[in-house]
Amino acid sequence: MKTSFHMMYSQKEVENRIRELAAQISSDYQNVTEDDPLLALCTLRGAVFFFTDLVRALSVPCEVDFLKVHSYTEGTRPVGAPVFDLGEDIVLKNRHVLIVEDIIDTGATMDAMLDLFRMKDPADIRICSLLDKPDRRLPKYQDTIHADYLGFKIPDQFVIGWGLDYDGKYRLLKDIMYLEFHKD
Ligand code: IMP
Ligand code: MG
Repeated sequence: MKTSFHMMYSQKEVENRIRELAAQISSDYQNVTEDDPLLALCTLRGAVFFFTDLVRALSVPCEVDFLKVHSYTEGTRPVGAPVFDLGEDIVLKNRHVLIVEDIIDTGATMDAMLDLFRMKDPADIRICSLLDKPDRRLPKYQDTIHADYLGFKIPDQFVIGWGLDYDGKYRLLKDIMYLEFHKD
């Protein structure tokens, strides 16, 4: 299948939006301290560039940690349940947790992640996602899965760049682009 690439958000637009999100998050977490800092959790690999830009723009005390999420895909569609690799078992008890995601699509990954994290007794959990495709949300997640902090709401397009991949490719593209698939 032939594909073509189209611009969705330029590097500049994404950088500006990340600064705004960081300001909003910093203002909402005024109550965190050096002794009780925010715990920002990066979902690897897609969120990595968004995450590093975002946390470095925060003005509140923040620790960082990482988890690997495998959503097995066939082309552009996930197959089966996502699998999480929490490394050396991250301690979330009584922590202010901010999950940083690249994109919320059907909502299945975020739902499974919230289930897992809530069992670990955090003080609170919020979600920050660079992108959201609300038109793709499964009905059962319509009311339960949303980002507290969202970069951009986008239509049902497959996007790449800024950490997002298509079969492992295009993650390092500096702009967010969408793919168009042509039957040949
Ligand atoms: P979910 O459908 O909300 O569970 O999203 C699962 C995962 O699919 C996301 O975390 C992404 O890794 C991936 N994904 C969904 N939509 C896109 C896209 O447009 N481009 C690249 N990856 C995507
Ligand atoms: Mg992801």
